[in-house]
Amino acid sequence: MIRAGVTHAAAMAAIHGASFSPAEAWGRDVFALQLALPGVIGLLDPAGGVVLARVAADEAEILTLAVQPDLRRQRVGHRLLAAALAAVRAAGARTMFLEVSETNRPARGLYESLGFAQVGRRRRYYSDGSDALVLRRTVICAATAGG
Ligand SMILES: CC(C)(COP(=O)(O)OP(=O)(O)OC[C@H]1O[C@@H](n2cnc3c(N)ncnc32)[C@H](O)[C@@H]1OP(=O)(O)O)[C@@H](O)C(=O)NCCC(=O)NCCS
Repeated sequence: MIRAGVTHAAAMAAIHGASFSPAEAWGRDVFALQLALPGVIGLLDPAGGVVLARVAADEAEILTLAVQPDLRRQRVGHRLLAAALAAVRAAGARTMFLEVSETNRPARGLYESLGFAQVGRRRRYYSDGSDALVLRRTVICAATAGG
């Protein structure tokens, strides 16, 4: 797992392009722009997985997560998301949010397996007309939450 910088933008875009439809894939410029922003954390599994998260004050969000098709169901997504949770926690986040299409069963399964729970819904949020579910998870344990 690599902590990604702007120099990894092309590699991240290649994995993203293999994972999403052309209309949804993010190009190198988008990754480069995001990775240069304060609070954005990028993690790259060079075998074929990427995640971008953003931290603002004590909240974090997943901006994108992708595992290329030939690597799926091998826990790559799980490891990326777990590493992202650890990274945002280290950066001061207490809560993580994300949005996922109601129809995206693999992603919903992954997020549920890591303890994310639905806290909202954005109707017809995606271009295919599907609703976005807003999910949330605490990223610090209760024992250290008071400090
Ligand atoms: C969602 C995605 C990142 C999952 O990555 P992955 O590496 O295949 O997931 P993992 O192997 O780590 O799976 C972990 C758990 O998630 C759940 N899961 C993953 N894929 C699943 C599927 N196709 N159906 C049901 N549950 C699934 C399971 O609980 C799985 O645990 P298990 O394999 O022990 O049953 C991948 O499918 C992907 O890149 N999809 C396209 C892009 C995308 O939708 N990104 C998310 C946008 S919000």
